[in-house]
Amino acid sequence: MTAPEGTDEAIDPQSKPACTVAMKIALIGSGGREHALYWKLKQTASEVHVFPGNAGIPAADRRKEPSYGSDFGALKEYLISNKYELVVVGPEQPLVDGIADSLEGNIPVFGPKASAARIEGSKEWAKYFMQKYRIPTARSIACETVEEGYEALEQMPSPYVVKADGLAAGKGVTVTNSIKEARHAIHDCLERKVFGDSGNTVIVEEFLKGKEASVFALCDGKRAVPFRAARDHKRAHDGDEGPNTGGMGAVTPVEYISDNLMARIQKEVLDRAMNGFREEGCAYRGLLYAGLMIDGDKVNVVEFNCRFGDPETQALLPVLDEDLAALFLQCATGDLQVDRLRFMDLSSIIVVVAADGYPGSYKKGLDMTPLMQTETEQDLLVFHAGTEMENDKVVSTGGRIAGVVASGRSVADARSRAYALLQSNPVDGTFYRKDIGSLS
Ligand code: AMP
Ligand code: GLY
Repeated sequence: MTAPEGTDEAIDPQSKPACTVAMKIALIGSGGREHALYWKLKQTASEVHVFPGNAGIPAADRRKEPSYGSDFGALKEYLISNKYELVVVGPEQPLVDGIADSLEGNIPVFGPKASAARIEGSKEWAKYFMQKYRIPTARSIACETVEEGYEALEQMPSPYVVKADGLAAGKGVTVTNSIKEARHAIHDCLERKVFGDSGNTVIVEEFLKGKEASVFALCDGKRAVPFRAARDHKRAHDGDEGPNTGGMGAVTPVEYISDNLMARIQKEVLDRAMNGFREEGCAYRGLLYAGLMIDGDKVNVVEFNCRFGDPETQALLPVLDEDLAALFLQCATGDLQVDRLRFMDLSSIIVVVAADGYPGSYKKGLDMTPLMQTETEQDLLVFHAGTEMENDKVVSTGGRIAGVVASGRSVADARSRAYALLQSNPVDGTFYRKDIGSLS
């Protein structure tokens, strides 16, 4: 599936299920998540164009223009005049900036309006929302001055959790046993402004112990229908050590999420959130991501995000047995017609390949061609993340560059095939975690 850009063989979606809606879709974003969404949507939609996409998307389906920042005027005009029938938004920033509001009344959008995307855009608002609607989460204190922050630390036992209020590209959270480091984090946010306006408020939060899981749900404003749970590994190094990253690997299913626990997540997290959004006057249409901490039978929400997770999406979509394009349109138009999502009886795993040094500074322009052009199939895929074509080579443009996704009868089976592909295609200047799928 991963021939060079410009060849329509670059992605070879399997032929099922049959196309139920002849639809022209604009997909916004450029990462591994968007490559996976493209791959899945192309199975049933007639046209999918990615704005701007990466080298995994065939050239014919990439649209580098019009570009967009926080002003969607030119993009809106283009999408309307080119008769797109659905807009699917991958990343959080355009949602928080109001892309769904901008297109309202013109084209259905899979993604919440800015007022609901605040659930990710402001941790302070997310905390207010969770407390108001009785969604279980850690105790927290919002602070606007360094003095307030230091005082809040005195009220929380160690380890300390300090978060910038706004979007910070996954870097705004510090979890530490050292009060000195926690104070530094507060100072960096509020005084040094290392996250700009995103750090005008700091949240000091109680530490939650347990194991993490990500539960995504398709939402149509009234109901939330969940995906199978996935487990993300955010730390850079084996054994869940090292700095937090955007995500170095993921696995589905998650052995510690039982059916009973899933029923509780539905009732205490998803249903309460959907009700809350309605009560607040911002009914939620799109993908709601609940980042959970599971401690035995206790569930707490660590964070909500307003979009699909990366890299969990790349692991989940190849085993999803549904027409995703049709479901997205149903959500966007407020009429989701299924009560549960069907998954193949398979485990799935993604291992992310990143540039040496990531999440710190790293080199770009690494030659990824042999790995990215490996012959793959439905149960063994290579999704592009930060890549571009340079003549006939695939070169890296970001920290997270690629994701190898394998599915199989067990996690062990999927894991052994993903790692076999990686071992036979080593890439200088990159690294990947060796323990995805083997941690208890
Ligand atoms: P967030 O950006 O809020 O997802 O936080 C990034 C990561 O920090 C999470 O995936 C957790 O591993 C960790 N984290 C955040 N908040 C807490 C908390 N209250 N207790 C324990 N770990 C946390
Ligand atoms: N995988 C973590 C995230 O998408 O935020």
